[in-house]
Amino acid sequence: MDLVLLEKTLLGLFVAVIVAIAISKFRGKRFKLPPGPLPVPVFGNWLQVGDDLNHRNLFDLAKKFGDIFLLRMGQRNLVVVSSPELSKEVLHTQGVEFGSRTRNVVFDIFTGKGQDMVFTVYGEHWRKMRRIMTVPFFTNKVVQQYRHGWEYEAAMVVEDVKKNPEAATSGTVLRRRLQLMMYNNMYRIMFDRRFESEDDPLFVKLKALNGERSRLAQSFEYNYGDFIPILRPFLRGYLKICKEVKERRLQLFKDYFVEERKKLASTKSMDNEGLKCAIDHILDAQQKGEINEDNVLYIVENINVAAIETTLWSIEWGIAELVNHPEIQKKLRHELDTVLGPGHQITEPDTHKLPYLQAVIKETLRLRMAIPLLVPHMNLHDAKLGGYDIPAESKILVNAWWLANNPAQWKNPEEYRPERFLEEESKVEASGNDFRYLPFGVGRRSCPGIILALPILGITLGRLVQNFELLPPPGQSKLDTTEKGGQFSLHILKHSTIVCKPRSF
Ligand code: HEM
Repeated sequence: MDLVLLEKTLLGLFVAVIVAIAISKFRGKRFKLPPGPLPVPVFGNWLQVGDDLNHRNLFDLAKKFGDIFLLRMGQRNLVVVSSPELSKEVLHTQGVEFGSRTRNVVFDIFTGKGQDMVFTVYGEHWRKMRRIMTVPFFTNKVVQQYRHGWEYEAAMVVEDVKKNPEAATSGTVLRRRLQLMMYNNMYRIMFDRRFESEDDPLFVKLKALNGERSRLAQSFEYNYGDFIPILRPFLRGYLKICKEVKERRLQLFKDYFVEERKKLASTKSMDNEGLKCAIDHILDAQQKGEINEDNVLYIVENINVAAIETTLWSIEWGIAELVNHPEIQKKLRHELDTVLGPGHQITEPDTHKLPYLQAVIKETLRLRMAIPLLVPHMNLHDAKLGGYDIPAESKILVNAWWLANNPAQWKNPEEYRPERFLEEESKVEASGNDFRYLPFGVGRRSCPGIILALPILGITLGRLVQNFELLPPPGQSKLDTTEKGGQFSLHILKHSTIVCKPRSF
């Protein structure tokens, strides 16, 4: 390490200690902060609580400090909320006050300092982006325009799995094929495009760059530079890689998808609204001067991040639970067979006629919430919550997983039991009508993609269960459902091998 840099850093740390002590004394007098472990200068609570603030660790801390508590992560305040009442306050009653997003050094790179929609602060830019994205992505008209495509993609998954004889004996890592399906589902909407196979070079490149972006953004590796700004110079190498990945990725979106579509639009008449795909609408907004070219690319970036893996994780969890609960799988198959009749392949309109399928989806999203702490919220200004003062620019985490898995609120929550959504919880919907169950959040910053995610989940799980008996690989009685969490995701640690035994109709 450069000696001058080290000297500067040590001096900086010393100054930071003095300033932190002075600030904490001063703040202690002025603010009534939420309870929490005693912070030490500079590091705050970071060394005590560590990096991995996943939903389970945060619940352990809530047991100690209550439904609202504060952690000081270096210079950053982190407020964790673990009750339906306080979640309602954050997401609904004070939805404007807490409707911003925190970013950090890495997210600043990937979003061009909030030129996107998902990670931008609450305000004019967010409102405009959400409005511009609604018509091309988040309406029932979009579902009706693309559902045949999703049904086709699910049928192709079934066909490809049937073609692979090993799938029926030693099994196949189904996720790989489903990932291609999810890319196709979303790239049809965005660009009216699909990828032919898992080996398609463009798909391979895209998948690698998206994976790299997720890994870099979700890693805990850069926390030190984020929490303690004085250490940021040591992140230089990490941030350089982030910048390179971001540039290459946006260039790929631009060269291979946006420009291609523009070329096509110049040769064909796109007057027919019915033929337009999402990017045509977004480019219209750019032409009208509502957004710039960067915003267009960040919309593509956001959809790649927010839509594909989240839905894929949920499908993967659903399959794992159905394999590990053969009686539930059987019951679901029975519903599909009796309501739809043998041989009729499930379509989007059918999903509304299948209450047990809906319950399986809800139960999967409850027990295995893909974004268990929602996307972090933030208050731009000093605020009040639960009788405490919340300093401006605090990161607010809503422990949605705990809300949906608290034994004081749910009967045997650790049990995977879809029946609960047909019995004691029959009024609870995924759209957020009950603050105990928020897999997509609720309120201003809630997930607009719910309208697409639910039918895709229904069609995919439905087709798989209709066509195959899904089993663990030979010699295994259950799939390993160990969880893996990132900065804010919850997925399965090991992508399971699934035996898919074709059914004969
Ligand atoms: C099962 C699949 C999905 C789950 C579990 C999920 C969950 C979530 C959650 C929890 C949030 C944050 C809510 C909050 O902070 O209060 C969110 C935000 C978001 N989701 Fe989803 N999502 C899924 C699929 C999708 C899809 C398919 C799309 C797009 C096509 C999408 C687009 C977005 C966007 C754009 C936001 C940011 C909204 C904003 O900040 O205003 N999501 N999602």
